[in-house]
Amino acid sequence: MEQTQVQRKLESLENSFICGNCEDVLKVFPQECIDLVLTSPPYADQRDYGSDDSLISPDQYVQWFAPKAQEIHRVLKENGSFVLNISDKVVNGYQHLFVFELVLFLCKDIGFHLVRDYIWYNPATPPNVFSRGGYGRTKKSHEYCFWFSKGPEWTFNLDPIRKPYGKDMLKYLQGKGKGDRNRNTRPSTHNFDCEKVWNDNGGSDPGSVIEIGNTNSNDVFAKLCKERGISHPARFPEKLAEFFILSGTDEGDIVLDPFSGSGTTAISAARNNRRWIGIDANQDYCELASARMNLEFEGASNGD
Ligand SMILES: C[S@@+](CC[C@H](N)C(=O)[O-])C[C@H]1O[C@@H](n2cnc3c(N)ncnc32)[C@H](O)[C@@H]1O
Repeated sequence: MEQTQVQRKLESLENSFICGNCEDVLKVFPQECIDLVLTSPPYADQRDYGSDDSLISPDQYVQWFAPKAQEIHRVLKENGSFVLNISDKVVNGYQHLFVFELVLFLCKDIGFHLVRDYIWYNPATPPNVFSRGGYGRTKKSHEYCFWFSKGPEWTFNLDPIRKPYGKDMLKYLQGKGKGDRNRNTRPSTHNFDCEKVWNDNGGSDPGSVIEIGNTNSNDVFAKLCKERGISHPARFPEKLAEFFILSGTDEGDIVLDPFSGSGTTAISAARNNRRWIGIDANQDYCELASARMNLEFEGASNGD
């Protein structure tokens, strides 16, 4: 496809929710046109989303995901990234390994490179229910977010995701407290193992554990669900999407969510001046996501 044709095709797809099996829908996308794929597919055996693909067995999960992964890889730009939010499942008393099998498959068979495995930590504190019935373990308070690159270089912006410094680091940067910048020791008083001394970059590196409660306090979405008498059972928080959109793309880039559900990725992309495409197999969810987008940006132009 010529560059102008690619551009035209992309323009016809962007800023819309497309209903269908992503594996089929992606086939009409041009090669290497997407900057970031950020998505949370149905987890194995977890929920019925009212489409053919609901309730995928953990043993079949890699096989189910394989053709979709091939399409995701094909549509990503060479410097693009794929962020996969997923969690696992206890089967016959043990945690099933399909998540780890999938990561190996994506790297060894599809050709992705693992950039960083992130933990999305949900600090909710419900009573423990897993210690009953002989399961004998704590609740799982995290999900995985695997950041893969397609090629050897990818977009990464640290500044928009920096966190405030801790107390000790603030003192250290002011030349006070523990640690000595002149003697090259850290606030913990350990020695630096290099010549560099930490400078104030306006905030700290947020690390690989992202703490966000998954509360359903989105007024716009809650209002919409009430009006329409439907909801989406497995939204992720907008803050989670934002973390990867801000760090993994630049303004004007294009973000794809092939399992877009209630449209969280798209909303965050639009809010941060990125272009977006959502795909979901369930028509009701596509309509819900479109209505959510319109409500979120009522009166404002989001490119819709
Ligand atoms: C975990 S949910 C995504 C939730 C989304 N991140 C949000 O915040 O709302 C997974 C979604 O994948 C959709 N789905 C399942 N199989 C699909 C397929 N083959 N192609 C596209 N969407 C699919 C389901 O309808 C469901 O909405």
